[in-house]
Amino acid sequence: MDPCLIPVKLSSSSFRDSGTESYDILIQSAEGPSGHSLIQLGSQMRARGLSGKALVVSHPGIAKHFAERLLQGLHQAGFAAHLYLLPAGERYKTLRSIAKIYDAALAFGLERSSTLVALGGGVIGDMVGFAAATWLRGIPFVQVPTSLLAMVDAAIGGKTGVNHPQGKNLIGAFYQPRLVWIDPTVLKTLPPREFTSALAEVIKYGVIQAADVFEFLEDRPQLSRYADFAPDDLHYLLRRSAECKAWVVQQDEKEAGLRAILNYGHTLGHALETATHYRRYLHGEAVAIGMVAAGEIARRLGWWSAAEAERQRHLIEKAGLPSQWPAGIPWETVLRVMQADKKVKQGRIRFVLPRRIGQAELTDQVELVDIQAAVESIASPRAS
Ligand SMILES: NC(=O)c1ccc[n+]([C@@H]2O[C@H](COP(=O)([O-])OP(=O)(O)OC[C@H]3O[C@@H](n4cnc5c(N)ncnc54)[C@H](O)[C@@H]3O)[C@@H](O)[C@H]2O)c1
Ligand SMILES: [Zn+2]
Repeated sequence: MDPCLIPVKLSSSSFRDSGTESYDILIQSAEGPSGHSLIQLGSQMRARGLSGKALVVSHPGIAKHFAERLLQGLHQAGFAAHLYLLPAGERYKTLRSIAKIYDAALAFGLERSSTLVALGGGVIGDMVGFAAATWLRGIPFVQVPTSLLAMVDAAIGGKTGVNHPQGKNLIGAFYQPRLVWIDPTVLKTLPPREFTSALAEVIKYGVIQAADVFEFLEDRPQLSRYADFAPDDLHYLLRRSAECKAWVVQQDEKEAGLRAILNYGHTLGHALETATHYRRYLHGEAVAIGMVAAGEIARRLGWWSAAEAERQRHLIEKAGLPSQWPAGIPWETVLRVMQADKKVKQGRIRFVLPRRIGQAELTDQVELVDIQAAVESIASPRAS
């Protein structure tokens, strides 16, 4: 399959930080039936003016599949490359891990012109991006996303950072990569639940922006697992998702306005994740329920039709994602979480709602009673 290149233009301030006007998202599948394309990353980095030392940061569970070929390609392209491993998991997305990356950078002698390479999901990508933004006040970095969520979302847009014990992603910086290298075949080893969960973000692009993506997914007979997608189909979804995210962040790199539409499904999704202490749902699963709830609010307000709300719910269920508000989470808890989130002001809340499939808008015209009614109407039958 031909490689696909999506250029992302940067704002003038990011241009000042990184010295480049744009960077590329490259989607390149395996060169053979059993291999993957990571061996080519080194030459693509060289073609973008990068050289010298490259420190690849990953998790053991990911590195065991992919690091050897990637390092081989880096060496062949003339890089002095080294691998550094961190433990996997959101709980390691901390300043302590960043300090470990700095220690590795020091030990390996990373200079201003050296490159940090993030080989992993969103956790690794966010951390390595932040380390790159701050080491020597900023060195080049390259994203090699290995999870579906990182490919369609986290690796694109320049948000980097770590968690604070008091909250997620409280520490961070906007810092753009020099290249995002996506090889869809690496998803073969991704745990199936992670794949399904990330499909929620793809469905989100379909609802807020890209009716073609939504219809494409509707036409697939099955779509919950990696194996359900032919290589061309996956390539198309990754390309369109990357284009959607890149388009929004190009319009609004630092989240002044438009970028908020990417939060579709996330207001209630986030409330659900918090109310269940981040244990019950993966992020995309909570977002899926949040999208069904937002779709229901939009239907009640007459923003879109019952038929469209139903199409969305059906697609979410076909993807194997949850669509019902779980039993045992009282409305008061949801309200408290949204209030703690400072999302509610004078009884009103900013919500992204769909106008039709392929178009959404930000509004503060949603009353709390509408949200409550929507949540109750999608509650699991066992809810009290
Ligand atoms: N920067 C942004 O704009 C942005 C956007 C969305 C999410 N995020 C962040 O991304 C993180 C979530 O990302 P995620 O869902 O990728 O989580 P993750 O990085 O924890 O990856 C999920 C799991 O899958 C494993 N994994 C990843 N790729 C694999 C592969 N190819 N084969 C086998 N195992 C693999 C990981 O080791 C991990 O156990 C959160 O910290 C979130 O805050 C950032
Ligand atoms: Zn999300």
